[in-house]
Amino acid sequence: MKSTYILAIESSCDETAAAVVKDGRTALSNVISSQIALHTLYGGVVPEIASRKHIEHIVPVIQEALKEAKMTLDEMDAVAVTYGPGLVGSLLVGVGAAKAIAYAAKKPLIGVHHIEGHVAANYLSNPELEPPFLCLIVSGGHTHLVMIEDYGSYRILGRTHDDAAGEAYDKVARAIGLGYPGGPKIDRLAKEGNPEAIAFPRAHIEGNPYDFSFSGVKSAVLNYLNTCKMKASAGEPERHADMAHAGEEDYLSYLPEGITQADIAASFQAAVVDVLVTRTVAAAKAEGVRKVALAGGVASNSALRSHMREICEANGLSLYYPEPILCTDNAAMIGSAAYYEYRRGITHDWTLNAVPNLKLGE
Ligand code: KG4
Ligand code: ZN
Repeated sequence: MKSTYILAIESSCDETAAAVVKDGRTALSNVISSQIALHTLYGGVVPEIASRKHIEHIVPVIQEALKEAKMTLDEMDAVAVTYGPGLVGSLLVGVGAAKAIAYAAKKPLIGVHHIEGHVAANYLSNPELEPPFLCLIVSGGHTHLVMIEDYGSYRILGRTHDDAAGEAYDKVARAIGLGYPGGPKIDRLAKEGNPEAIAFPRAHIEGNPYDFSFSGVKSAVLNYLNTCKMKASAGEPERHADMAHAGEEDYLSYLPEGITQADIAASFQAAVVDVLVTRTVAAAKAEGVRKVALAGGVASNSALRSHMREICEANGLSLYYPEPILCTDNAAMIGSAAYYEYRRGITHDWTLNAVPNLKLGE
C-alpha cells in the first residue's frame, strides 16, 4: 500500500514547529524552534512577541522539516496545521502559512485540534497503541481525562475547574523563585526534596469524581510562604520593615528550620501527582479499560510517570506515554493526528481560521 506523508505545522504558543510524518506513526523530521529563552526574560509567554517570532521562524522551520525528511513539498499528501486552541496571534501565523502552502502546492488542508495532537503523540512513541484507551492530558493550558473511543472520537470524563496542571507548576515555580518554565525546574529540584515535608491539599471537587482543581494547592503554597514570612518576622520589627520590599526569592530566609526550597517543590509535586494518579486509575477501573496513556507537557514529569507506572502495574493496566520531546509542543504530533483525519476523509477548505478557544470534539 502507498504510504501517506503529511507536512505538519504547529505554532499555537511559543514553539514554531514543523514535521513530516509517515502514515501517522513515524516522524521523518520534527523541527522545533523554541522561544523559551526569550520569554524567560519576562517570566512567561508574551503573546505579541510570540507571534512576531513565529513570523520570523515559520518558513525556515518548514524548509528544514522537508530537508531533514529528505522530501519535497510535491511528495506530501496533505498539509496539516494546529488551528486551536492557543494564542490567536500565534495560531494565525501557522494557519496562514499552511493555507498558503497547501493552496500553492494543490494539497488538501487539514486543521488539527492541538489537544488531539498531544494525544496522538502517543501513536508516534508507541507503535502498538490503538484505541480504545483512557488518556490523561496534562499541559500548560489543559487538564482533561478523556476516553479515546476511536481515532478522532473522544468522550471527556473530567476536566479542571480552574488552573491546568502545568499552569500550577509554572505559577508555583515563579512563587518559589525558580522562574519560567516552571514544570521542568520543579521536576528537577523535587528530586532533592522530601515530598512529605509539607502536607499540601489534594482538592476534591463536589459532583464529578474525575474533575480537577489546582488553584487550591497553588494558593496553599503561596499561603505557606506568607505564613513563614509572618512567623519569622513577628518578633523582629526591623526585619518586618524589610519585608515590605522583599521579593519572591527572599522567602528562603524565612523558611522554618529544616525546610528547603526542594522540600516545597517536592511536596507541591506530590500533591499534584497524587490527585492525577488516583483520579486516572479510578476512571480506568470505572470504564473497564486496560490501557492508560499520558499526554501534554506535564506527561514528561518524572514523578507523574513513575507513580503512574507503579499504580498501573498494581492494577494490571498498561501505561503509555510519549518520549519527552513529543510531550511538549511539536508538529510531529499534529501530523499524526492529521493522518487519522485524512484517513477518514476529513479536510478543511480555505476558510479555515484560528479558533483560540476551540473545544475538544469540535
Ligand atoms: O503541552 P505543552 O508544551 O504546552 C501546552 O499545550 O500548554 O505544556 C507546557 C507545560 C508547561 O506548563 C510546563 O511547565 C509543563 O508543561 N511541563 C512540565 C514538565 N515539562 C513541561 N511540568 C512538569 N514536569 C515537567 N517535567
Ligand atoms: Zn501543547
